[in-house]
Amino acid sequence: MVSELPVFKGRNPLIPGAEFLVDPFKFTTTRGMSLGSFYRIPFLFRKVFVTTDLEAIAHVLQRKQKNYRKSFAYRNLRLALGYGLVTNEGESWFHQRRLIQPGFHKAKLEGLFVAMGEVAERYIGDLRQRTEKPTVLDITVEMMKVTADIVLKTLFSTDNKADIAEMYRIMVDAQDYLVDRTTKPHLVPFYYLNGRHRHFRKDMDWFDRQLYALVDERRAMTQRPNDLLTMLLEARDADTGEAMNDRQLRDEAVTLFAAGHETSSNGLSWILYLLSQHPEVLQSLRNEVDTVLGDRTPNFGELPKLTYTMQVIKEGMRLYPPAFAIGREPIEDDLILGHPVPAGSVLFIAIAAVHRNPEWYERPHEFYPAHFSPEAEKERPRLAYMPFGAGPRMCIGNHFALMEMQLLLAMLVRRFNFKLLPGHPVKPEPLITLKPRYGVRMAVEHRWRKERPPVRQRIGCIKEKLSSK
Ligand code: HEM
Repeated sequence: MVSELPVFKGRNPLIPGAEFLVDPFKFTTTRGMSLGSFYRIPFLFRKVFVTTDLEAIAHVLQRKQKNYRKSFAYRNLRLALGYGLVTNEGESWFHQRRLIQPGFHKAKLEGLFVAMGEVAERYIGDLRQRTEKPTVLDITVEMMKVTADIVLKTLFSTDNKADIAEMYRIMVDAQDYLVDRTTKPHLVPFYYLNGRHRHFRKDMDWFDRQLYALVDERRAMTQRPNDLLTMLLEARDADTGEAMNDRQLRDEAVTLFAAGHETSSNGLSWILYLLSQHPEVLQSLRNEVDTVLGDRTPNFGELPKLTYTMQVIKEGMRLYPPAFAIGREPIEDDLILGHPVPAGSVLFIAIAAVHRNPEWYERPHEFYPAHFSPEAEKERPRLAYMPFGAGPRMCIGNHFALMEMQLLLAMLVRRFNFKLLPGHPVKPEPLITLKPRYGVRMAVEHRWRKERPPVRQRIGCIKEKLSSK
């Protein structure tokens, strides 16, 4: 017997789902939890179902994924991303995914890691100069800058050329515009009247011209750099040997650029914030980094040794998953856990609430990296942790992101102290990704000003410098 589906009854009789709309992260991780693992939010024009049930998630994202397309919110993104991997569907998506997947295999990532390391070292050098004296910085801005530089370098092998900086500016503005179109659909006609849409189109046209020029330049090269653009350009269909056309190349490059930094950047900002509130975790993290790396930048082979660093990253993304939810729409009517779910309704997979379920996590609302000890991980079903989604549409950049975060986090905590400004509010803002609403303002200072590196480590550094001469 299937019990009746719980329906949320909000305080606002005109918009009963208002609380969910205003802050879906807060709603699903607090009030929503008392409604169970599958419930409905009443809206006038659409049926919206929220789920944290692992069976239902496996049904939608894995077993019956062909019956589920991405929800309408993603379709707005097509105005900027075209039909890249994030926004594509069906056969065309499958074909593109098969072409691009090999570019993210381990051997390829090892090549990209070298470029990541160069950007990270340059950034750390720059940050050291800017914090000669303890300096207050917004960590979200800092992390956005370094992760954008990493994605630009690994995608185009370019360092901050003026036109690249302008392309970055356009992407940020475009994202703001598309978020507004999605969250305030009633204002869309106004954007056509007040010139905002025209401005967006003009920006995107300029952006596309730059991108096509980069592609032409790359095509003409005999010695191509080892980056993601070359990977896209040289990808061939296994059956037909066909390459991507210019439009597909453009859409995939923009998609990797857009999908490839804000999520990692928000993840790192949350983690640095959490570490500033948990000195004991920070100390254990530093012990590992000091022991494994001393004063060096990690190389690719050393990443698996940074096990506690990885636990900290996973735990940070458990509490504040940068992609806090996934939306899907059934193409045909379906039954989920015995409940009818009509075509065109919205399935909201509340990742953040899955991550805070006491059934899977001993201390669901606390920052407790032991949740990811090898023993604890073995005991938990795989879907109980899904910051990168699940099923065939799982994030293609998950290993890229994890190695980037390991690299940056290790380098940052080794060199700097981060202290949250007293009284600074840190609140989650769920837009496309989950970001801290008011940024994370922190006093940043050199770590060794107060604490000298251990003698063994200093000797190690001197030896290394001598041997490299
Ligand atoms: C912490 C960092 C990241 C998080 C939390 C994250 C999260 C996600 C999630 C949850 C999805 C699935 C969305 C869905 O099913 O609707 C996804 C898809 C995707 N991500 Fe990521 N991502 C991250 C980093 C990256 C990076 C670094 C790249 C590229 C360099 C990337 C590229 C993509 C692409 C292309 C897709 C679409 C895949 C497809 O549908 O075939 N992501 N990401």
